[in-house]
Formats: sequence, structure tokens, C-alpha cells
Amino acid sequence: MHTTDNLISRRAFAGSALAAATMAAASRAGGAVAELPQTPGQDIGPFYPVQHTLEVDADLTRVAGHGNRAKGTIVEITGRVLDRFGNPVSGARLDIWQCNAAGRYAHPNEVSKQPLDPGFQGFAKIATGKGGEWRMTTVKPGGYDSPIGFRTPHIHFDVSGRSHRLITQMYFPEDATTNAKDELYKAMGGAASHTVARVDGVARYTWDIVLMDG
Ligand SMILES: [Fe+2]
Repeated sequence: MHTTDNLISRRAFAGSALAAATMAAASRAGGAVAELPQTPGQDIGPFYPVQHTLEVDADLTRVAGHGNRAKGTIVEITGRVLDRFGNPVSGARLDIWQCNAAGRYAHPNEVSKQPLDPGFQGFAKIATGKGGEWRMTTVKPGGYDSPIGFRTPHIHFDVSGRSHRLITQMYFPEDATTNAKDELYKAMGGAASHTVARVDGVARYTWDIVLMDG
């Protein structure tokens, strides 16, 4: 990893890390602690991968054997898995899946006529580090039509912590117009915890996932 990436990553974590550390310290001291809002759950949807024939590492933009990197806007997403008191959840497992930049999933249920992208991995299986941190490199998913209406760009997460599992979706702040028309986005009440933030004005996002007891 480049040094600049490390710096940006650390900066991205700094704000939420400070708040979480403060809460965790108050919790240990037995003081009253305002709990973090838990990340709302969402349906798993019809496209959870059924074929794990590709690699599942944290870089979805490169697939072994394909010379071309995935098509679309490359984005880097970092975050942490926390319990509701702000304690990091290390060793949490994250299954992550999404459509490609054209809005197509590599899945038998897919009816989209958009092209597949053989350079796009589409699925990742990663785990959080000691500080609950995770990181992925991917392409910004496209939006797509579905039986419940237009789906704004989103990424699916299935998160297993020590005692809780959460299936949810992540959205992008720059898509406010299409987010507002997406029934699933609206169903979770526009919860801020689903909206990631750009870091330093480039396509880097941070998103913390809060499980009740980690
Ligand atoms: Fe989806």
C-alpha cells in the first residue's frame, strides 16, 4: 500500500475512531454512554452470489487471468465494524457483493441485458483487523431497474461479528436524487449510517457498520 493511502486511511478513521474510543472508555468506567445507532438491516435480495469460482480478495477491480481492470470509476471504501458502545469488532467477517458499473450482476437470477465485465470480481470475503477496520477497492456500481423500481447504486454487505449478524446495503452520498426514489433506501429512513462520505474530495468513502453487541 502506498504511504499516501495509509495517511488518507488514517485520516478517514480519525474522527469516528475518536468518538468510538471516548464511548468505549466511558463504558469501561461505568458511566452513562450514549449508544451508537445500530446500522439498519436490509433484505439480502436476489443476487447473493451462488458461484464462488472467482477470487474473493478485497480488490474487486482485478481478476487473475484478465489483463483489463474492471470498467468504471474506481472507488476505495474503508470502515470499521463496531458494537453499539463503539468498541471495535475484530475478526468480523464481511461478505460483499455488488453489480458492475453497468448495473449487471454476475448471477443466474439476473435479467439485465447490460454487459458482464470479466475484469470485475463482484464478490469479496474479507475480515476486520484488530481495530475492527476493513478496506476494499471496487468500482462504483451502476443503478438498475428492478421489480420494486429503480435501485440506486448500492453495495450489499453480510456482516458476521462475534454474536450478531447483519445484512445491509451501503449507498453513496452523491446519488441523493436517485437515493430519494429508491424504495429500499427510503425504507431505512435515510439513516445517516448508510450514507458514506467522500474523503478529501476524491472517490474514497468511509462507512462504519454498527452491530448491537458486536
Ligand atoms: Fe442489489
